[in-house]
Amino acid sequence: MRQNRRPLLVAVVISATVCWVVLATYINPGPALGSGPTAAPTAAPGPGPGPAPAAAGEAPSLPDPVAWRGFSKKEISQLSKLGRMLFLQDTANLTPRNKTFTVLMWKHGLYMENRHIFHFGKERHDPYEDCSVRNCRIEYDDKFLSKADAVIFHLHQTKSINELPRRLPEHRNQRWIFLTDESPHHTFMFDRSTNKLKNYVGVFNWSMSYRMDSDVPVPYGRAIPLTKEEAAAALATIPVSKNYALGKNGTVAVMGSNCGGWNHRWDYVRELQKHMRVDVYGGCGNNSRACPGGFRKDCPKIKNYKFYLAFENSNCRDYVTEKVWWNAYRNGAVPVIMGDTQENIRHILPRKSYLHVDDFASPADLARFLMHLDNSDRDYNTYFQWKYKYKIVNEHGYFQSPVYHYCRVCEALNYNDESTKIYEHPEEFLNVERDCKYTK
Ligand SMILES: *[C@@H]1O[C@H](CO)[C@@H](O)[C@H](O)[C@H]1NC(C)=O
Ligand SMILES: *[C@@H]1O[C@H](CO)[C@@H](O)[C@H](O)[C@H]1NC(C)=O
Ligand SMILES: *[C@@H]1O[C@H](CO)[C@@H](O)[C@H](O)[C@H]1NC(C)=O
Ligand SMILES: *[C@@H]1O[C@H](CO)[C@@H](O)[C@H](O)[C@H]1NC(C)=O
Repeated sequence: MRQNRRPLLVAVVISATVCWVVLATYINPGPALGSGPTAAPTAAPGPGPGPAPAAAGEAPSLPDPVAWRGFSKKEISQLSKLGRMLFLQDTANLTPRNKTFTVLMWKHGLYMENRHIFHFGKERHDPYEDCSVRNCRIEYDDKFLSKADAVIFHLHQTKSINELPRRLPEHRNQRWIFLTDESPHHTFMFDRSTNKLKNYVGVFNWSMSYRMDSDVPVPYGRAIPLTKEEAAAALATIPVSKNYALGKNGTVAVMGSNCGGWNHRWDYVRELQKHMRVDVYGGCGNNSRACPGGFRKDCPKIKNYKFYLAFENSNCRDYVTEKVWWNAYRNGAVPVIMGDTQENIRHILPRKSYLHVDDFASPADLARFLMHLDNSDRDYNTYFQWKYKYKIVNEHGYFQSPVYHYCRVCEALNYNDESTKIYEHPEEFLNVERDCKYTK
């Protein structure tokens, strides 16, 4: 607590406006802080009651469903048809095919039911609940290999290429799909020294992962621009003058049960703790009894905090997990992100809905800024104006939330391009050197 006092005092004595100017100098001007073409209301809080959203009843100007992500033409061309539907709201020419597809989950179907059918809870769910199609049958038994239209291989559980069946000539039209929900550092759980993606030459036809350019994208969550009707409903239910800081008696929380990370995230947390109070839930902190971490039991206590440290275990492209979508957004806490680069994350999250550690020179600078926002409800509330323009959906089953893996594979079989595709070198798709970035 002793270390807390000095910076806090500094933040308190300087008037809010001056403070903003001072603090702004700690931040590299970056797209994350709201300079994008469709940036949410006024980036820098000026004098007055903060950004002025549309008057009651008046629809705010909504983000363009394609432009807001700031994708290049090339990035758009790399999306599958299903990817365009999920990330650009492009539903043109999506006609389901008139047949029933058989999808074989190779070897690990039962194990994966925990997520895909039970949503980490006790109840079974229909895998096509809230899905645009349902003309697929999921099978677990090897005997369906000859009949399957698609075979899914869960790489995390796969110990070597020898676990895969032989592809016979009559399997030519099947889609062999590799599935991973993990960053490229953790593609395989077993035998990592010999079991490498580069061994799987020319085996797979499709990719299935959180990456937006997957043939079958299964992101942990998504931000989706509101429709006019949804925006009007949001305005009608959340007053634009709402104070999002109200009732929050905690400033910064983080939860973790994996106390490691390629980005040394816990070193950063400990450093941050020298400058301000950070409450740690889960196995890596003092509060593991209050919230165990993991995917079974939610941690509603996070709702009491203004910020959540969404520190991923690796800093890799598109790897944005439940730490952001659920722990932070869902609990009404502003995510402070360590993970994907700010440059890429603007393709994924609404402007001014989050902070990113790379925008701060040091944990001390981040602490100063967090304490400033903690002291200025007006400035804090600028991180919530996106809620009148976007919604957040969670799609990976944690804490009994919806999960769409089987839905997405079925949609891909219905909608995606039917042409032949082969991943000759899958390690070029999931690549640590290219996709994961670390400072020093
Ligand atoms: C769908 O396929 C079935 C059997 O192949 C056929 O009888 C039916 O007419 C088809 N329906 C449409 C809408 O094409
Ligand atoms: C906030 O208040 C709740 C309810 O009174 C309490 O359980 C919790 O410990 C408080 N949290 C902090 C960070 O002070
Ligand atoms: C965590 O526990 C240690 C030792 O038991 C204690 O010194 C420290 O104050 C605790 N931290 C918090 C945030 O409660
Ligand atoms: C899938 O990949 C195999 C190569 O392993 C190839 O022979 C086959 O034509 C591909 N099928 C499709 C539908 O792309």
